[in-house]
Amino acid sequence: MSFPQVRMRRLRRTPALRNMMNNVKLQPSDLIYPLFVDENAKKPIPIKSMPGVYRLPLNEVVNDVRHAMEQDVKAVILFGIPSKKDEFGSGAFASDGIVQKAIQKLKAEFGEELVVIADICLCEYTNHGHCGILKDEQVQNDPTLEILQKIAVSQARAGVDIAAPSAMMDGQVEAIREALDDSGFDQTAIMAYSAKYASSFYGPFRDAADSTPKFGNRKSYHMSWGNQKEALREIELDVNEGADIVMVKPALAYMDIISLAKTEFDVPVAAYNVSGEYAMIKAAAQNGWIDEKTAALEVLTGIKRAGADLIITYFAKDVKAWLNQT
Ligand code: PBG
Ligand code: ZN
Repeated sequence: MSFPQVRMRRLRRTPALRNMMNNVKLQPSDLIYPLFVDENAKKPIPIKSMPGVYRLPLNEVVNDVRHAMEQDVKAVILFGIPSKKDEFGSGAFASDGIVQKAIQKLKAEFGEELVVIADICLCEYTNHGHCGILKDEQVQNDPTLEILQKIAVSQARAGVDIAAPSAMMDGQVEAIREALDDSGFDQTAIMAYSAKYASSFYGPFRDAADSTPKFGNRKSYHMSWGNQKEALREIELDVNEGADIVMVKPALAYMDIISLAKTEFDVPVAAYNVSGEYAMIKAAAQNGWIDEKTAALEVLTGIKRAGADLIITYFAKDVKAWLNQT
């Protein structure tokens, strides 16, 4: 009996061979490290549903980011928790707001060595927890755009490299691009949360940022799970409105969207490995049910294989050491 000439197992024989043959390679420099800066915190406050993640006071931010940079992470995305929330989310665009201060500190310390990204949304800053301003309990699209513009310009003044609008308001990328350009910030890039689904996997983030909507849900602005075509329309609109990078969020239940984004468009694609996806691995690992290191590397490599150029992940600081151990 003659065996087929091809034996796939030849190249799987040793770790060195297997490594060489991998055509998808995860690197710490692909990762974006998310950071919660809390205006009220006096010391790091652990987030219960996100083991290993903290709300940081402003004076801890530089140190934490230095640790991330020592692990070859080159980019952070900032989320603010203001001391006071109001109807309009004023804390989000205050020139001395918590995120603006964190941007200034990080740029002063690290300059061009670090890419500073800031989330643009209202939900962490409004007393009702919605991502826009309300009228009769409905989020108002166009009035919200004006606030998003103010946030973007205030962050750009503070020195942010990339603005990342996440409110899922129609026209938000165009509105922000215009406002930035009008204020002289034509070099500030936009990473648009283009295909952002109404997901159960944001739960731990909302614990962290205290941003669960006080009533209703986000389904009138975040996308519906069952809709794939709509994601392509959202991405196309954002590209046409001037997005430099598009994002798919969450990652794991939306690998098809990441893959389509990559094949259909010629802009860099980011994927957000969100809080609930992180919490699942952490919880199972703490129970001894899965191995945290290999599970996380498998997931992150999978997200990259699906087509993500950049991955936002709470595991960012661990990846370099983990890769060295494998
Ligand atoms: C702000 C925002 C959220 C996340 C990123 N930006 C929360 C939300 O939309 O409710 C979630 C990220 C995560 O779960 O890790 N809108
Ligand atoms: Zn929001």
